[in-house]
Amino acid sequence: MLQDEINRRRTFAIISHPDAGKTTLTEKLLLFGGAIHVAGAVKSNKIKKTATSDWMEIEKQRGISVATSVMGFNYGDYKINILDTPGHQDFAEDTFRTLTAVDSVIIVVDVAKGVETQTRRLMEVCRMRNTPVIIFVNKLDREGRDPFDILDELEQELKISVRPLSWPINIGAKFKGVYNIYEQGLDLFTPSKQTISERVEIADVADPQVDELVGETDAAKLREDLELIEGVYPEFDREAYLRGEVAPVFFGSALNTFGVKELLDCFVEIAPCPQPIMAQEREVKPGEDQFTGFVFKIHANMDPNHRSCIAFVKVCSGKFERNAPYSHMRLGKQLRFAAPTAFMAQKKNIVDEAFPGDIVGIPDNGNFKIGDTLTQGEQLHFKGLPSFSPEMFKYIENADPMKAKQLDKGIRQLMDEGVAQMFTNQFNGRKIIGTVGQLQFEVIQYRLLHEYGAQCRWEPISLYKACWIESDDEKELEAFKRRKHQFMATDKDGRDVFLADSGYVLQMAQSDFPAIRFHFASEF
Ligand code: G4P
Repeated sequence: MLQDEINRRRTFAIISHPDAGKTTLTEKLLLFGGAIHVAGAVKSNKIKKTATSDWMEIEKQRGISVATSVMGFNYGDYKINILDTPGHQDFAEDTFRTLTAVDSVIIVVDVAKGVETQTRRLMEVCRMRNTPVIIFVNKLDREGRDPFDILDELEQELKISVRPLSWPINIGAKFKGVYNIYEQGLDLFTPSKQTISERVEIADVADPQVDELVGETDAAKLREDLELIEGVYPEFDREAYLRGEVAPVFFGSALNTFGVKELLDCFVEIAPCPQPIMAQEREVKPGEDQFTGFVFKIHANMDPNHRSCIAFVKVCSGKFERNAPYSHMRLGKQLRFAAPTAFMAQKKNIVDEAFPGDIVGIPDNGNFKIGDTLTQGEQLHFKGLPSFSPEMFKYIENADPMKAKQLDKGIRQLMDEGVAQMFTNQFNGRKIIGTVGQLQFEVIQYRLLHEYGAQCRWEPISLYKACWIESDDEKELEAFKRRKHQFMATDKDGRDVFLADSGYVLQMAQSDFPAIRFHFASEF
């Protein structure tokens, strides 16, 4: 039954600041799911620190990552889909888009470092979408901060209420284990990369057995802490979690496979199954008979000899079937997919069917753009994630006059793939590429050359932010565009964008033109 398939699915992403332990945690979850058998088997999507200046190395590592883009496995009665996100922050936009395809998120935080920049930004996206989040505080086997401080910081920095569902007993060299508040048990810590910790069931922390197991001092501290937690934090409320208002918090050590099973067991129970998704026309429920889905990611094959891509389609409703005719909304065409792949236990296999929450990989030669919708005929358009103002801007210029056409085509296709954002300056017609990090410029230049035979050159432009502007007052809008004509551009959809060259200029513009709304994201 379709509904049974939906109810047992959990589609989520693990996000973190680089180095907090996302890759390690992912690997341990796969270990529990039987998807891999030894630790160290996951070829991570992580771009190693040493490779930041070595572009070819990054290519290689990104090439590998198709296989780990989606990791599906069964755990008990549940079908779990983990959507991987790039570890390098220059590719943060990929991560934002992946978040449009998940129903919940696990955030990994390093106990010594607390909330870091990347986590904060990713959480903003979760908050926009009311995505339920669970937080895993990692590396308790190392010296770190006081857990109460961490909880306060999580609340303040991530702007979400928290509720600990497990609690650490001491930390670092003296780390004894965690008390599982959710299931009322004591998990004793033994450092090990492969084995799973022993659980001691105790009815009550007052049990003298606790003193024997962790020592009197730590037992007394644990009792005190738990009392404080019960006093300060309201009971865990699953509904509030599902609304994205409160984040349950777990403590552990991913490297030592400690606290991971507790996290997983609680996760499958409380995390949402595939949820309804808003299309422009209406809300689409996963249990509807008719198949619908959208493309949230396109992965290019880096082999210059076959420029082919995989489009990742999230199934939103109904059942996806191989070779069935589906309507591609933007192209207004019917397409059949003969070789859709799914990702199970580290393998990419051709599949005959897929259900809501699943991700299907479709080999593609340029039919798909990020955000494209597939249906069985109904006119529907799923809303993607808005584009955010890039952080870095450069003019892109043609460095080989003989290859102007190739360059145009290459830029267009790379933008469709979501590699970066492009704006066209209305004053001089020049094209401006906006990214979140320097690496994206290198990716574009490299791929234009190797896949399209085109050469580009970057020229500096000093910009602070791209703002999408709108107003109910047509006259004022026109007056603004006239005054700022040198800084007006259009985005890929032809919308008006004001390119502010400094924070001050933006502030002045806002106060001089009160009837104009300035947005830092493209959907409002
Ligand atoms: P990321 O994907 O979030 O970037 O982090 P990753 O899992 O790669 O972990 C970053 C580093 O932290 C790795 O060490 C990893 O072994 C370590 N780590 C992860 N979990 C724990 C933990 O619970 N305790 C301790 N002590 N360390 C942990 P590395 O030296 O950078 O890499 P590697 O050479 O060990 O792979």
